[in-house]
Amino acid sequence: MTLTSGKKLSEAAPGKLPRHVAIIMDGNGRWAARRHLPRVAGHRQGVEAVRIIVRAAGELGIEYLTLYGFSSENWKRPAEEVSDLMGLLRLFIRRDLAELHQNGVQVRVIGDRDHLDADIVALIDEAEALTRENDRLKLQIAFNYGGQNEITSAVRRIAREVKAGRLDPEAITPETVSGFLDTAGIPDPDLIIRTSGEKRLSNFLIWQGAYSELVFSDALWPDFTPERLREAIDEYCSRSRRFGGLDEPVQDAGK
Ligand code: IPE
Ligand code: IPE
Ligand code: MG
Repeated sequence: MTLTSGKKLSEAAPGKLPRHVAIIMDGNGRWAARRHLPRVAGHRQGVEAVRIIVRAAGELGIEYLTLYGFSSENWKRPAEEVSDLMGLLRLFIRRDLAELHQNGVQVRVIGDRDHLDADIVALIDEAEALTRENDRLKLQIAFNYGGQNEITSAVRRIAREVKAGRLDPEAITPETVSGFLDTAGIPDPDLIIRTSGEKRLSNFLIWQGAYSELVFSDALWPDFTPERLREAIDEYCSRSRRFGGLDEPVQDAGK
């Protein structure tokens, strides 16, 4: 992806480009409703947007892209819609895996696999195994993912380590906790984008997003284009990240 000036965004903003962009892909249902179509039509169009954005992210030089595809709370939706969403993950992996692999994309799925159908788990395993060594763009798909569940499961595993005498409770640090999350080894998201105008995290990367910049786009997910992605990154580049510190060293007023 190039800017109108012909420059890559990374060249236009050296050192400022987010390494890790995470997206809450919201608004498929509303996209369909506006066209008097069933919700599944919005989800299908959402998958097209996924394809386009994954490609654009790679071309922009983003290292990590995490997409929220199905939350642990989305099981509350009608069974038919849940089944449509599961079907679309299947379709996406079947149809796009070879191309993703060819383009050097590493695929990893985060979230709870225990309650997914066996054939979906097999597809996920296949996608992860095939693309493990790729390093052009690292794509995480959050599927049956919920931040509270992820942290709870990490706490449970940490407690087991303590109980087994392998971990000293006093030695537990935030890094220890991070290492037990599904995202172990992945840098925290620099930028979290949510589409469709909603302004909440909906249980997405609640630990990892502690210092993420948040950008909210009014576009419904199926309408989210590489241009919108670039706008969100431009907004990110204009922000000052302080992580609790200060922008500039403070001058001593008395001197
Ligand atoms: C996002 O679109 C996709 C998922 C949550 C799976 P929605 O289905 O939430 O769309 P809206 O919010 O109803 O428009
Ligand atoms: C968040 O969207 C989950 C995904 C995008 C996968 P939702 O549409 O489920 O979130 P709420 O219910 O509006 O918070
Ligand atoms: Mg929604």
